Amino acid sequence: MSGSVGDRIASLLQEKRVFTPPASFSAQARIKSMDEYRRLYRESIEDPDSFWSRHAEELHWFKKWDKVLEWEEPYAKWFVGGETNICYNCLDRHLSTWRRNKAAIIWEGEPGESRTLRYLDLHREVCRFANVLKSLGIQKGDRVSIFMGMVPELVVAVLACARIGAVHSVVFGGFSAEALADRNNDAGAKLLITQDGGWRRGKIIPLKETADAALEKSPTVEKCVVLRRTGHEVPMREGRDFWWHELMEGASDKCEAEVVDSEHMLYLLYTSGTTGKPKGVIHTTGGYMVGTYVTTKYVFDVRDEDTYWCTADIGWVTGHSYIVYGPLANGATVVMYEGAPNWPDPGRFWQIVEKYRVSIFYTAPTAIRAFIKWGDEWVTKYDLSSLRLLGTVGEPINPEAWMWYHTVVGKERCPIVDTWWQTETGAIMITPLPGATPTKPGSATLPFFGVVPDIVDREGNSLGPNEGGYLVIRRPWPSMLRGIYGDPERYEKQYWGQVPHCYFTGDGARRDEDGYYWIMGRVDDVLNVSGHRLSTMEIESALVAHPAVAEAAVVGRPDEIKGEAVVAFVTLKGEYQPSSELADEIRKFVRQQIGAHAQPDDVRFAEALPKTRSGKIMRRLLRDLAAGRPPGDMTTLEDFSVLERLRQSEE
Ligand code: WT7
Repeated sequence: MSGSVGDRIASLLQEKRVFTPPASFSAQARIKSMDEYRRLYRESIEDPDSFWSRHAEELHWFKKWDKVLEWEEPYAKWFVGGETNICYNCLDRHLSTWRRNKAAIIWEGEPGESRTLRYLDLHREVCRFANVLKSLGIQKGDRVSIFMGMVPELVVAVLACARIGAVHSVVFGGFSAEALADRNNDAGAKLLITQDGGWRRGKIIPLKETADAALEKSPTVEKCVVLRRTGHEVPMREGRDFWWHELMEGASDKCEAEVVDSEHMLYLLYTSGTTGKPKGVIHTTGGYMVGTYVTTKYVFDVRDEDTYWCTADIGWVTGHSYIVYGPLANGATVVMYEGAPNWPDPGRFWQIVEKYRVSIFYTAPTAIRAFIKWGDEWVTKYDLSSLRLLGTVGEPINPEAWMWYHTVVGKERCPIVDTWWQTETGAIMITPLPGATPTKPGSATLPFFGVVPDIVDREGNSLGPNEGGYLVIRRPWPSMLRGIYGDPERYEKQYWGQVPHCYFTGDGARRDEDGYYWIMGRVDDVLNVSGHRLSTMEIESALVAHPAVAEAAVVGRPDEIKGEAVVAFVTLKGEYQPSSELADEIRKFVRQQIGAHAQPDDVRFAEALPKTRSGKIMRRLLRDLAAGRPPGDMTTLEDFSVLERLRQSEE
């Protein structure tokens, strides 16, 4: 476990505060008490068929399933034999109700413009774009890469793919051309959807320029659709590139939703693992739909009167599940914001909360820590009385940040749901239910319905209260990943081959005497930087691609705002000398290779990397060094002088 984990455990072990949901909140909530939670939880475990059937029946199926679950470890099929369409459930289902005129998306652009799409409008746009996709030759099962900023058309593109049974692969707009090309190629994408540029901190993110560079190396991509957003000049390649608005002009708004099997592939989403190669996590239709629908319903207790805002980017799973699919399946009104939280000033988020009277607000601990740093006045100058529920996701929240969120943002009125889950789990797994669960700052609390987590050792033995171990999930759940695209072996090994008969999360955690889960962080070579998942191996392979770098080792060091910062130890090829210019150049190089979020915070030169006799890089030692602590055990060092020199360069 990483160096920061020890500190975290120490601080969390002392956390004894408990906050019970306000009685007025519980009275209105779907799950009003711990008794109710326990009763439903027990049913979900003892009689999962009836629990999941009842909830799945709230959604539309063209054909009902024959069997709720078919489990052949490690492959699950949910709602077997059922036929549905998730886009139909997010849109068409609401059109026969009063919700047809309800706001589906309230969007705010970074420069300040605002657009509202009613369910009717969103449905119309999605149908038209679905016809555009068909006219470009996209068929059921084809992969479509989407490389866009946070604009309503991103939601339109995603839902249009789902409507016709095409598989979307959304690539976060901050990724480099290299990373986009890798994902296009791995997915065998036929089409890329992008935009001229997006707004971020008053500047244009040149998405089309990056897409063009990626397309040079993406032989499977035949065509590219370009949305005009910023309006700046971009080159358009005849026969390959098409303007969104021109294609939409002639497109019919009639398009029946494709009836797909419950296990039809819905999307791929690439995420970092312990190797240098990102993995395409596969999510399918029926189970994912039910999982995101049910968690949104109970965890956010979302109502028709709510204005719900999740600040994530749709480039990550949080945006897929809790901006698009979960909330829209529930018929919610979703706020969507294009830009940065501190543009034009650090009050922007709170100004948006006030402007749209946001009632449910879901964000990341890293953002909360940034707001603490920017100063309370940016928060308190706005009227936040519309807020009734707060949420966090992406990384462990330190109790101090939790308390600030609770008092300064929530005015001690709003329950906080600290939701633990992953790209792979598709939906929230460990979480408070806001009207029922007493919360403890820093704990994601208890499992959601149908989820059986455990804390175990390598052999899979359950550990006792407050013993730190591996967080695993003992049973399949509806929204679980169905595999890694093109790499079943990696799926089987990585997730099901670590601890016998358990899904391995990669997180370390403990369970306290009340059964509450406390997530301690990753136990593998995965970093969590500002809630972004990064693989040390992936950054290392980017580093060694630089002409000056001979060898590299990447570790995390605790960072007040980002949770973890990226520290790269590099050895240079003979002819190169360490310099701060070179360090800068190497940092920028990683940014070009992967994306800005992966850029190392520190580059530290070493004459050689400390290795064990068997040649393994001693990461723990590097982590200690990066964190500025004296190194621990060094008896297995092959070359003591290396450590000495590293320490000297530190002084
Ligand atoms: C990893 C998954 C799930 C959407 C965003 C991240 C960490 C996530 C929490 C939480 C402590 C958390 C874990 C997990 N994580 N939520 N509430 N408390 N840690 O998705 O990129 O797939 O990363 O994020 O380490 O394994 P992701």
